[in-house]
Amino acid sequence: MRAELAADLVVINGENASHGFGLSPDMAEAFLGAGADAITLGNHAWDRKELIPYIAQQPRVVRPLNFPPGTPGAGSVVVTLADGRQALVLNAMGRLFMDPLDCPFRGTAELLSRYKLGASVQAIVADFHAEATSEKLAYAHSFDGTMSLIVGTHTHVPTADHQVLPGGTAYQSDAGMCGDYDSVIGMGKEGSAARFWRKMPGERMAPADGPATLCGLFVVTDDTTGLALRAEPVRVGGRLSAALPV
Ligand SMILES: [Fe+2]
Repeated sequence: MRAELAADLVVINGENASHGFGLSPDMAEAFLGAGADAITLGNHAWDRKELIPYIAQQPRVVRPLNFPPGTPGAGSVVVTLADGRQALVLNAMGRLFMDPLDCPFRGTAELLSRYKLGASVQAIVADFHAEATSEKLAYAHSFDGTMSLIVGTHTHVPTADHQVLPGGTAYQSDAGMCGDYDSVIGMGKEGSAARFWRKMPGERMAPADGPATLCGLFVVTDDTTGLALRAEPVRVGGRLSAALPV
């Protein structure tokens, strides 16, 4: 798909890639080998303990920047493309209905103060990993015009609000997951539903294994300003209606 879309930069969220829980180093290597430029994480960042030593020596895997000071890894990375252009990729996590971390708004503003979009970097991409669309929109409007793209993750359901905001930042509340949509956010239906019916722990959840839909967002940016020109959804395979950039 990277070749098909002629994508210059590919960023994926990998926090549930290893059987629904976390990201193992071998899978991170597989993603990077397959053409991902950077991998973001979220609340499941440390589900695979092996990632802790790995992230210290693989800067292309980034965890939320608003984890406590001293947390292994970094909250952002500057990716240099083969032609020399550079992109800042950052990961931040929301706090509404999530773990009470440091402020993602202030943390992002502090990071952005060190970069100039369209000058020191040609693109800035943020994965805002959060539950609430209100917090995602508040974050997006706060940083509209200072980043190329702000895309939400974590709900596993793609939203239909992909757009270029008035200041020129592309935005989508949630990119959706890459997985089986005949499921409860990627996990087996029966076990997931039983937890809501019985309110008791059941067997360990396992990912649904039907045909997957690849979901994402395709954005065209202007290298001179770093701002977005177009934002179009990508949905391929599985149960969801197909969408590909024109
Ligand atoms: Fe998550």
